[in-house]
Amino acid sequence: MHNHIYFTTKDHSLHLLDQRLLPTREEFFVCRTSEEIITALQVMVVRGAPAIGVTAAWGCIIALHEVMQQPQWAVLLHEKLDRLAHARPTAVNLRWAVEHLRGLWAGRGDIPPAELLPLWEYEAAAMQADDIKACQTMGQYGAACIQDGDTVMTHCNAGALATAGYGTALGVIRAAWEAGKKIKVIANETRPFLQGARLTAYELAQDGIPVSVACDNACALLMQRGMVQCVVVGADRIAANGDSANKIGTYGVALLAHEHHIPFYIAAPLSTIDLTIMSGAGIPIEERPAQEVSHIGGTQITPDNVPVFNFAFDVTPARLIAGIITEEGVLRPPYTESIAAAFERQAKK
Ligand code: MRU
Repeated sequence: MHNHIYFTTKDHSLHLLDQRLLPTREEFFVCRTSEEIITALQVMVVRGAPAIGVTAAWGCIIALHEVMQQPQWAVLLHEKLDRLAHARPTAVNLRWAVEHLRGLWAGRGDIPPAELLPLWEYEAAAMQADDIKACQTMGQYGAACIQDGDTVMTHCNAGALATAGYGTALGVIRAAWEAGKKIKVIANETRPFLQGARLTAYELAQDGIPVSVACDNACALLMQRGMVQCVVVGADRIAANGDSANKIGTYGVALLAHEHHIPFYIAAPLSTIDLTIMSGAGIPIEERPAQEVSHIGGTQITPDNVPVFNFAFDVTPARLIAGIITEEGVLRPPYTESIAAAFERQAKK
């Protein structure tokens, strides 16, 4: 997958492969202001928890560039960072990335903006590179959860496009494939934004990994017929007890997997785990515009004035999760203990 998020230091612009247009058009959306970054996040030019974290990090740099000549630059910058951190509510990576850069700034006392700029640019590039590394490590650990000959179901897109590159759930699938396992993938289409049909199928087809698309409501039948041996999905926020928020529909897939004795895995970096939230009940669930459900390709499909639900995420309880695949290994229940231990291992490095 080519570089789908890149920053140009010459004119401080961020270039994002426009995921709304895939798979039929490959065009870049260019952001020159922090408000354009917020728009790109909200209309989902870029989406996927780690990818929106990386985008927000570059957004902080654009915000700094916007205010650095003004005497009140620090106050103005804090306001812009707050807006960036709240562009979408569910994926914790967004807040994590902004607060990471804000913390670095706080640690440098009265650093002038001209010195903060290169520091942040270096750090954002490192965050982007680290995310790819974390995905590759996750892939190495997670590949062992997939057996030769398995058909793996995934929901939404947790691939290169949803991260800085390689992917979380698709990283695990890629690593299993690269290890020589003859696997197949079923990509649930993922109404209403169709991340599975458009993005997961696009990525896997490009890599030559056999993939079929199924309607979300075919999941029960596919499992009942023995056509799925394993489920691997990503996550947007994981609570301290392992409850995991991911794309709407994931909870239903997990319940069906449990009923059919199929292992259900989450693949996510530690930056997706929010230790300040004890259980899934505390994870904010984004509600998106009704038009995404009431219209398909610009055509209205529901009667006028009928309200629709457009919750973008749901929470899978930890008890349904066989393992959480991270860059610190595959965490197993009880998650409160295994998650805390993974953070301790990471802190010692
Ligand atoms: O609304 P989206 O497309 O941003 O939702 C994305 C997902 O739910 C992904 O599965 C999740 O962010 C994991 S991405 C590696």
